[in-house]
Amino acid sequence: MSNLIKFENKNKPLRNKDFLTLGEMTSEEILFLIKDAIELKKIQKAGSSQPILPGKVLGMIFEKSSTRTRVSFEVGMLQLGGHAIFLSSKDIQLGRGETIEDTAKVLSRYVDGLMIRTFEHEIIEEFAKHSTVPVINGLTDTHHPTQVLADLLTIYEHKGKLAGLKMCYVGDANNNMCHSLIEGAAKVGMNISIACPKGYEPNEKIMNKAKADAKKLGSVIELDSDPIKMIKDADIVVTDVFTSMGQEQEGKKRLIDLQEYQVNESLCRYAKEDFIFLHCLPAHRGEEVTSSIIDGTHSVVFDEAENRLHAQKAVLKALMG
Ligand code: CP
Ligand code: NVA
Repeated sequence: MSNLIKFENKNKPLRNKDFLTLGEMTSEEILFLIKDAIELKKIQKAGSSQPILPGKVLGMIFEKSSTRTRVSFEVGMLQLGGHAIFLSSKDIQLGRGETIEDTAKVLSRYVDGLMIRTFEHEIIEEFAKHSTVPVINGLTDTHHPTQVLADLLTIYEHKGKLAGLKMCYVGDANNNMCHSLIEGAAKVGMNISIACPKGYEPNEKIMNKAKADAKKLGSVIELDSDPIKMIKDADIVVTDVFTSMGQEQEGKKRLIDLQEYQVNESLCRYAKEDFIFLHCLPAHRGEEVTSSIIDGTHSVVFDEAENRLHAQKAVLKALMG
């Protein structure tokens, strides 16, 4: 745990807080969660029980599909001695027009924490404003913080450090994954270089805030349309789907616009020899990444998927414990 700072949980620093974006958190909070996730993973692998949240209930609203987020939160709550309730927006009154405000107020009367996967980020902000229990972002159009917390944990496990490494993100940089990676990297002193075509650049406000955070820890954020330039000597290579949930109608155009931004063997030759490849999944082999990379020796995507469970348990424990 060499560069994970010492952070005592004496005052339960995240208790009753929301987990909406990594940009709103402190570096200490993020590093604390990674450190605790490592501990929780160790305990679970040793087969010991972890009744940290006995009788606690997490409500989970999904307005978009999910495999990993749903299952890892549900299993995580169970392993911590609590319970999770899956609520598809199609089946609850939210889908018939009940307001976000009323939904948050009502569910807060039943459960100890809420997770929501939704569209515009403003929806989760509104939801959190009216919820009286902690709210966790399970993905919005612009952020995916629980995924990136798991990504940082995975990188730490494989590289033994976070600060000073170079991460390269290739592809659609105006999406939830790229934004949370930018915010997360900046908070842990990791350098991030982004390669994307014109029109797919990250949100300017997120970039500017992250650049200021990165500066404090001495790391840099670079953006260019040339993937070879950006991937040079990268320790970590990341991509995501060209078409995110909710953008299906733009699918054909995105495939054309982003075709030069595929992570493949000829591009990865410019990364460091021991680079690791991350993808939050689900992946489209042959589009944003070739099978030779995602199924190859550099890929750690299934460790990354597993780490959703461990990282989120640390979040649940900190917020609801
Ligand atoms: N990576 C991720 O969030 O996966 P799901 O969409 O399956 O939850
Ligand atoms: N950017 C992707 C991530 C899926 C986990 C999407 O929003 O569909």
